[in-house]
Amino acid sequence: MKIVKNAAVQILLDFHPELGLILGSGLGEMADKIKDPVYVNYCDIPGLPISQVEGHENRFVLGTLKGKKVITMQGRVHYYEGIRQSDLALPIRLMKLAGVKTLLLTNAAGGVNTTFKPGDIMLISDHINLSGSNPLIGPNDPDFGPRFPDMSDIYTASLRAKIRHLADEEGTPLKEGVYVMYSGPSYETPAEIRMIRTLGGDAVGMSTVPEAILARHCGMQVIGITCVTNMAAGILPRKLSHQEVLDSAEKTAPMLEKLVGGILEKVC
Ligand code: HPA
Repeated sequence: MKIVKNAAVQILLDFHPELGLILGSGLGEMADKIKDPVYVNYCDIPGLPISQVEGHENRFVLGTLKGKKVITMQGRVHYYEGIRQSDLALPIRLMKLAGVKTLLLTNAAGGVNTTFKPGDIMLISDHINLSGSNPLIGPNDPDFGPRFPDMSDIYTASLRAKIRHLADEEGTPLKEGVYVMYSGPSYETPAEIRMIRTLGGDAVGMSTVPEAILARHCGMQVIGITCVTNMAAGILPRKLSHQEVLDSAEKTAPMLEKLVGGILEKVC
């Protein structure tokens, strides 16, 4: 993979962050808490895909959060915007080259597990990729990882154990379960949600899986945290809307920020 090292890229590479953070729909404001922020717009990095989705800022924010050096993606581009999943490799690999050891992914998702409710936070234990693609399709760059990477501990079990412990200590209610990626952009049908539940899915969304695969491929540890913004299609007698997702994510953001703060202080 060829990386053009222009001035914007060099800022990222010279920063040496300890943790990478990707903030999902409605959760981008956490980046505003970053101290001494330096902004690098995605459009200044050749080849970086840009999101058109409302609520995504399209920039890296570098700085410190809870005393740790972080590189944050405030906004992410989604597969349903028409990109190839392999286009997501560049930002993840830039983080890797900058020195990131652990990538923390957050997202908004629909609750499939009927014991969940909107506002719940779910630690991702594993995923099922029903997106119909894979970000590693295409030539492999062995400088980053193997052709056939192992995915049996994609959301690092030892970190999850620490996060469960932390949530217990802080009294933050935390679910844990399997995230299923559907391509979107249409929400799923009630029949698809029943299928996803039968397959073992607890939450469904349109992101995270490509980034998690790419991060694991290049040897990063991965943490995934889902904000359950709505119950998935067909569970409640109401329609789904992006506005509901954004409003709900905004309400859960303070609890999620507290958890992420604790993870930075005590886990990573
Ligand atoms: N389905 C898919 N993606 C989502 C949902 C959903 O119900 N809610 C938030 N993102």
